[in-house]
Amino acid sequence: NTPLRLGIAGLGTVGTGVVKIIRQQAALLSARAGRDVVITAVSARDQSRDRGVSLTGYAWETDAVALAKRDDVDVFVELIGGDTGVAKDAVEAALALGKDVVTANKALLAHHGQSLAEMAENNGSVIRYEAAVAGGIPVIKSLLEGLAGNEITRVMGVMNGTCNYILTNMEKSGRGYNALFDECAELGYLEADPNLDVGGIDAGHKLALLASIAFGTQVDFDAVELEGIQRIELQDIKHAAEMGFRIKLLGVTQMTGRGLEQRMTPCLVPAESPLGQLEGGTNMVVIEGNHVEQVVLRGPGAGMGPTASAVMGDVMDIARGIRIPTFGVPAAKLQKATSAKAASP
Ligand code: HSE
Repeated sequence: NTPLRLGIAGLGTVGTGVVKIIRQQAALLSARAGRDVVITAVSARDQSRDRGVSLTGYAWETDAVALAKRDDVDVFVELIGGDTGVAKDAVEAALALGKDVVTANKALLAHHGQSLAEMAENNGSVIRYEAAVAGGIPVIKSLLEGLAGNEITRVMGVMNGTCNYILTNMEKSGRGYNALFDECAELGYLEADPNLDVGGIDAGHKLALLASIAFGTQVDFDAVELEGIQRIELQDIKHAAEMGFRIKLLGVTQMTGRGLEQRMTPCLVPAESPLGQLEGGTNMVVIEGNHVEQVVLRGPGAGMGPTASAVMGDVMDIARGIRIPTFGVPAAKLQKATSAKAASP
C-alpha cells in the first residue's frame, strides 16, 4: 500500500472542500483506490484563517511553486485559479518534475491547454481537470471514458450557474438584470472579475475544453464566439416566454462544413425542453454521439461540495492508475481546427 500523496495549492472554497472529503472519508477512498490517499502539504496565502476544518498534520508552504516541487508530493492539486502567474508557474513546475496535476482552472487550460498537455506527456505526467467544467457534473470523464467509443457530433450546455441564476430569476421575480447582478454579488456567486461570468468568458473557457476532447482538436478559446448576458432585458425574457421559450446562455460546439463551431451566446430554447427547464445555478451538458445518440448530464455547477467532488474523482483515477492524455488523444495528435468563426463572412 503505497499512499498517494497530495499537495493542495489554494485553500479557498474548493481546496477546503477537498480537505474535508479526505478527512471525512479516508477509509472509503482507500478501499476504492486500493491505497491510501493522503494530503502531505498545502499552500495558501493566509495560514491563520479558520476554514472550519483541521489542517494539522500537513506541511505548510506559502509558495505554491515550492509546494509543487516537494519530494513528498506525488500529485499537485492546483486550486488557485487564474491563467497566468503562480497557478501556471506551479503547474509547470509540477509537470517538469513528472508529477501529475489535478486542477479546477478552466482559464489556465483554455489559454495554455496545448502547451501544458505537451509538457505533461513529455514528462510522463497526466493533467486532470473535471472541476474546471460544470462543477460537480462528471462531463470530462464522460467524454474521455464512458463515451470514448463514439464519434461525438455535438456538445451543448448551460455551463455558468451565475448567468442561469440571473436569467431564471429575472423571469420568476420580474426584477431587472442589474438587481439580479447585485444579488449575485451579495450571495458571493460572482467570480472575482464578474465579467468572466456575465460576459460569457468563464462558460466559453469550459466550452473550449469540451470541444477539444469531443473533436480531438487543439484548445482554441480565441475562436469561441462569445456574447454575454449583460444586454438581456426583462422585455426580451417576457417576449421569449410568450412564444414558449426561455433565454439561456447556451454553449454549442460541433464540427461543421466550415470548420469547428464554438458558440457561447444567449439563445432561445423551448421552455419545455430539459435545457429550458434548468433553474438557478444548475448546469446541464448535452452530449450527442453517433452510437449513444444523446446523453443529458445535469447537476450543480459550483459550490464547495460539488466542485471538491469533481477534484476527488480525478484524484481517485490517478490513485487507481488510470492515465489518459489531457484531451483524450496524445497532444501531438490534436488537430489545429479551422474555426467556423474565422470562416464566416
Ligand atoms: N462562476 C462559475 C459559475 C463558477 O457561476 O458557474 C463555476 O465555474
